[in-house]
Amino acid sequence: MKLRLLLLSLALALISAPGVRAEDPKPAVKAEKPETELEQTMNKMNKAWREVRKAAKEGKLSPATADLVATVRTNAEAAVKLTPALEAEKPAADRAKFQADFQAQLKKLTGILAQLETALRANDIPAATKLVADAGAVAKSGHHDFKKPDEKEHKH
Ligand code: HEM
Repeated sequence: MKLRLLLLSLALALISAPGVRAEDPKPAVKAEKPETELEQTMNKMNKAWREVRKAAKEGKLSPATADLVATVRTNAEAAVKLTPALEAEKPAADRAKFQADFQAQLKKLTGILAQLETALRANDIPAATKLVADAGAVAKSGHHDFKKPDEKEHKH
């Protein structure tokens, strides 16, 4: 009886000891394509924007939300200087127009975000609610027009 108990605990120790266990096939660093600078900027926008949308959905928009919107706007302003990955796939002759259109769409967004900040600081929640929807529509069409198709799956 004693021996069985000893063997059992030995077996358990062997199973649970990390060094003894058969090697888990550990994937060496996830084989993901490196993030573009624009993706990094968009991800920062997304983090703040999700909170804004959540507040809008839950009826919790307030003057304090303006700070989150400012984060989105500041990053959108930085994005104007960056180049969408899709641009490289365009014929060289079309790239300048593509970049100009991309910048115009971002400026449309930053204009709406500035209005949204003003509405929030004035505690004009009905106006702010509409502007959140407007900004969302501009983002959606920006992704439709300037994002590579395989990158369109992200949910915002
Ligand atoms: C509230 C506004 C917006 C949010 C929250 C947002 C969010 C995002 C997110 C999460 C990604 C994916 C990043 C990744 O794959 O890691 C992305 C990518 C992208 N977004 Fe936006 N976006 C917004 C507005 C816009 C607008 C207005 C445009 C165009 C004028 C735009 C153009 C792009 C492009 C081109 C990419 C792909 C990145 C690349 O080509 O390198 N986005 N965005």
